[in-house]
Amino acid sequence: MRKITPEIIFVKEDPWRIETEVLYLPVFENKFTEDVEKLDHLLDGELNRLRKLGDLKGRVGEIIRIYPRIPEIKVKRIITIGLGPYEKFSEETLRIYGGYIGSDAKNSGYESISIITPHSDKILSDRSLYLVLEGFNLSIYTFSLKTGDEIRGIKKIILKEPAFDTKPVLERVEVLSEAIYIARDIANTPASDMNPEKLENYVRDLFKEFPDVEIFVIRGRELVERGMNGIYSVGKGSSVEPRLIILRYKGAQNESPIALVGKTVTFDAGGLDLKTPQGMRDMKFDKSGGAAVIGVMYAVAKSRLPVNLVVLIPAVENLPSGSSYKPGDVLRMYGGLTVEIDNTDAEGRVIMADAISYAKKDLGAKIIIDIATLTGAIVVALGNHAAGLFTNSERLAEIFTKASERSGDRLWRMPLWEEYFEDIKSEVADIKNTGVAGAAGAQAGAAFLAKFAEDVEWAHLDIAGVAWVQQEGPKKPYYPKGATGYGVRLLYEFLEILRSSKLVFLG
Ligand code: BES
Ligand code: MN
Ligand code: ZN
Repeated sequence: MRKITPEIIFVKEDPWRIETEVLYLPVFENKFTEDVEKLDHLLDGELNRLRKLGDLKGRVGEIIRIYPRIPEIKVKRIITIGLGPYEKFSEETLRIYGGYIGSDAKNSGYESISIITPHSDKILSDRSLYLVLEGFNLSIYTFSLKTGDEIRGIKKIILKEPAFDTKPVLERVEVLSEAIYIARDIANTPASDMNPEKLENYVRDLFKEFPDVEIFVIRGRELVERGMNGIYSVGKGSSVEPRLIILRYKGAQNESPIALVGKTVTFDAGGLDLKTPQGMRDMKFDKSGGAAVIGVMYAVAKSRLPVNLVVLIPAVENLPSGSSYKPGDVLRMYGGLTVEIDNTDAEGRVIMADAISYAKKDLGAKIIIDIATLTGAIVVALGNHAAGLFTNSERLAEIFTKASERSGDRLWRMPLWEEYFEDIKSEVADIKNTGVAGAAGAQAGAAFLAKFAEDVEWAHLDIAGVAWVQQEGPKKPYYPKGATGYGVRLLYEFLEILRSSKLVFLG
């Protein structure tokens, strides 16, 4: 893997005394911090003057450039970054601060930069450092296949030496950043370059350096022989064989594994229920769930988290052709239920169901989490601002709420009432793969999956609205255009909390 975090040099003196191209300075709306006061003093009151002029308000996203000509200040320029009111200072403020720095430094082509980290009584300073670096790393990501696009990366960051041990912070931020870059790369890669076969090769290659991650693949006709007609049927319209890729990592003894299932439709044309051109334009991102769980496995294996983890990646292309599955088909699923295909474009739930059953029956998982760009309906409900969480377990709901707060991957719990199960009843089969047209589409998808996850603790994350962004926005500078890597941080935090809470919950 490439190294993501630039070289970090901790210095004893104030960072502006080291020669770099720029010093980034955080500024709040209604408060000058100690560092700002110190610089203002050196600059002979310049910052206070700018504030009085109304140029340095400290509003979120405000950026002011100052060119000091004082021997004590060795940086070529000072760039202030507005963080909003001090009372609203939160963990997210720090991530956004890091994001602005990264995106500014990347666009300007700076090679060496100095950063002042804002402090608060609420957030411990090792956590502050972590969050700024996380936002920074996530913002400097680029995905480009342009010829001759040279990457002139940021090489060096100067920071004031803190009073704590920085090693664990730097290790964690590097591992999670790598994992998110992996997830983004997979999702951003054009569909033809990351079809189920190429994805399998990519995964084999990625985990070569981890002997304790086992890879097992069930491919093509073998799916049918084992009874996995869901994955097989959705994928049979493509010339590339569908497959279920299984990754196993054993970091603990005598514990049933936790299973993560990621929707991996490498391209979703809709099948015979073909999407519109506009509707399929972004459907290379329909592999984002799989991309996320691959990233999580990477982070878990690399940091040797003491958990038993299995990751399931049902990988297919959903295409129309003479061999495609058809509306009206009835499939006997791996879990034993029969499913009427009402719409071939509701394919995600069909492949996920087989993977969930496999995790339950063959791998003995007692906790199963799935993550999927499952429905357009969740985008209608929550926009691009949160994933939908559906679960049959209050305990998992609680842990996910905590994991979400900590990771910044936002989610919102959705209901799974009995009525939604009525909506997926079929006249010819046990269930059908759609609900009521135009009503609670995300719940129909979740209810379908829930039928295959009975008797286990299960949670479903519908990430259709948060898996990618059309454009880098000012509110989230750590999300460059394209895949976000949503879910990697959330699931990693989830696993960490679950592990520590076991003592409390399971004895
Ligand atoms: N991959 C799509 C869901 C999707 C849509 C994700 C838009 C991101 C943006 C999924 O396979 C799908 O097509 N769902 C259908 C289901 C319907 C046919 C019941 C949908 O949401 O329209
Ligand atoms: Mn679809
Ligand atoms: Zn899909």
